Amino acid sequence: MCGIVGAVAQSNVVPILLEGLRRLEYRGYDSAGLVVVHDGKLERIRSTGRVVELTGKSTNTQGLIGIAHTRWATHGIPSERNAHPHISKNQIAVVHNGIIENYEELRSLLAANGYEFTSDTDTEVIGHLIHSHYVQGKKLLEATQAALAELVGAYAIGVIAADDPDRLVCARRGSPLLLGVGDSGLFIASDVSALLPVTRQVVYLEEGDVVELGRSGYRIYDAAGKKVDRVVQTSELSNESVQLGEYRHYMQKEIHEQPQALANTLESVCNSQSLVPGIFGAEAAATFADIDSILILACGTSFHAGLVARFWLEEIAGVRCNVEVASEYRYRTSVPNPKSLVVVISQSGETADTQAALNHAKLLGHSHTLAICNVPESALVRLCKLRMLTRAGPEIGVASTKAFTTQLAALFLLTLVLAKQRGRLTEQQELQHLNELRHLPSATQMVLELEPQIAVLAEKFANKQHALFLGRGLHYPIALEGALKLKEISYIHAEAYPAGELKHGPLALVDQYMPVISVAPNDALLEKLKSNLQEVRARGGELYVFADANTHIREVDGVHIMQMPEHAGYLSPILHTIPLQLLAYYVALQKGTDVDKPRNLAKSVTVE
Ligand code: G6P
Repeated sequence: MCGIVGAVAQSNVVPILLEGLRRLEYRGYDSAGLVVVHDGKLERIRSTGRVVELTGKSTNTQGLIGIAHTRWATHGIPSERNAHPHISKNQIAVVHNGIIENYEELRSLLAANGYEFTSDTDTEVIGHLIHSHYVQGKKLLEATQAALAELVGAYAIGVIAADDPDRLVCARRGSPLLLGVGDSGLFIASDVSALLPVTRQVVYLEEGDVVELGRSGYRIYDAAGKKVDRVVQTSELSNESVQLGEYRHYMQKEIHEQPQALANTLESVCNSQSLVPGIFGAEAAATFADIDSILILACGTSFHAGLVARFWLEEIAGVRCNVEVASEYRYRTSVPNPKSLVVVISQSGETADTQAALNHAKLLGHSHTLAICNVPESALVRLCKLRMLTRAGPEIGVASTKAFTTQLAALFLLTLVLAKQRGRLTEQQELQHLNELRHLPSATQMVLELEPQIAVLAEKFANKQHALFLGRGLHYPIALEGALKLKEISYIHAEAYPAGELKHGPLALVDQYMPVISVAPNDALLEKLKSNLQEVRARGGELYVFADANTHIREVDGVHIMQMPEHAGYLSPILHTIPLQLLAYYVALQKGTDVDKPRNLAKSVTVE
C-alpha cells in the first residue's frame, strides 16, 4: 500500500527519493510522485506508471529537501491528478498514507474558504488545512499539529513548504512511518528497506508522534505535543535481503528462501533439548497457565495459517480454538472470554484490520495477547503482551510465501508449548517433534526440487479460466492457500473446498475444462479423499494430485500425480504448501502477469 520517502540532505535528494520509492514498490501502488523545493518553489513530478517512469521524468529536477510517494488508490481512480504529492496554493506539499474519514466535511469547509480541489483524494484536505494554519503565521510544525487535530482517521504524512527549504515535518497515527538518521541527512520512510542505501540508524515513531526534521537535527513531539526522546536503533535488515539476486522474481526468490527462513525461525528451539514458554516472551508461562482457549485473528494468507493452527491446537494441545477474519471480527458482536489468548498473525504487523481487531478484543476485556509477526518493530508486536517473531526476512512479493510457512512453524511451536504445559506431551513425543522440526528445512528443500516438473505442469493451466482446489482436514486450509495464490497472481478464478463438500455444490462445475487440484497427504483421511477424487474422475474432471509417498494413487488418463518426497505427519501442511506456491508462480509466468505486483493488490494493507 502507499509508500512514503522524504529527505533533508546535504546533496540532491532526488536520487535518494527515487531509490527509496523503488524499494517500496513491493507494497503495491498504481502511481508515484515526488516534490522538492528548488529556488523557493515547489517542483513536482507525478506519473501513473512505474517508479522507473518517474525516474525518467526527473532528470532535470533537484533539491536539498523533498518528499515522495507511491499511491495505492482509495479515494479517486489511479491518475496523475490523484497521485501524491498534493500541493496547496503553491506553498505546502504533502504525501499521505492512510484514510481521512472526515474528509468530505473538511473539504466543504475548505472549499467555502476559497480552497480549490484538483483531485478526488482525501489527502488534499490535509495540505489545505495545514496551509490554512500556515498563512495565519504558524510555523510548519505548529500548522501541521493544528491540522492533525482536526483530522479523523489514519495517517502517516510528510510535509514541506516552498518558503522553508530546511524543514520537513512528518507524523503518524495508524499508518507506519520511521525516521532515518544518516551522516548525510535526515530521512523518513514507510519502512526501513527504503533507507538502507543511506542509513541503518532508525527511530520507530509511536502513534500520534509529530516530528520536525531540520538541517541541524530533529525533534519529536508525542500525541500530547510534549517533546520526547525515542531510541535510535540499528536496523539489522541486510541490503542483499531486499535484492533480487539470481532470481527472476521476488516470489520465486522467497519460495526458495523457505528452508533458510524456517531454519532461522526455529533456530533457538532446534538447538535445545526441550521446549519452554519463554520463546513467546517473559510472561508467557504465567499467561499460558491462565488461558482456557485461543482466538486467532488475521487476514489473507495469515488467516489461512490460523486455520491450520486450529487443527494442531485442538488435536495436540487440547485447547479450544476459534479463527476469525480480522475485518469481520472487529465489527461483529461477539462473546468475549477474558481467559482466551488472542493471537494475531501478520507478516507485516501493520495490517489495519488486524490492528483494529486486536484493539477491539482488548476493549472487550481480552488482556492475554500474542503477536506472531515477521516485522519486529511493527505496530502489532508493540501492541501485544507476548510475541513470537518469524524470521523469514523481508518479504517483497505481494503474494505471501515464506511468511506463511514460518507462521505455521511458529504456530506449531505454540501448540507444542501449550501441549507440554497441559501435560499432553511425553518427553519422548517432545523429542520426536523437535527432531521433525530439525528436519523441516531439509524436507522443504527436497520439495523445492519438484520445481521443473511443476513448471511443465503449469503449461496446462495457461488457458484455464477456473480451478478447483480440494483438501481435507489439516490440508483444507492449504487448498484455500493454493487457490488464493493462484488467483492473486495469475488472475485465474480459483476456489477451494473441503473435499467432502464436493457433492454439495462444486461438483456441478466439474467437466473436462475444470482442473481439480488435490492435496493428498498420506493421513487418516486419505481413503475418504480418494473416493472424492473418483467423484471428480467420473464427471470427466482433470485431476492434479499432490500426493505423499505410498498413497498408491495411480497416474492414469486424466490423473496427473506430483509425488511429494515423504509424509511429514503434523508438519505436512508446511510441505504441501510449497508445490502450490510454485504452481501459482509458473502459471503466472505462462500468463505473463506481474508476479510480484499483481494488479489491484497491496503487500501491506494499512487502510481498512
Ligand atoms: C495482503 C497481502 C497478503 C497478506 C494479507 C495480510 O492482502 O497481499 O499477502 O496475507 O495482506 O497481511 P499481513 O501482513 O497481516 O500478514
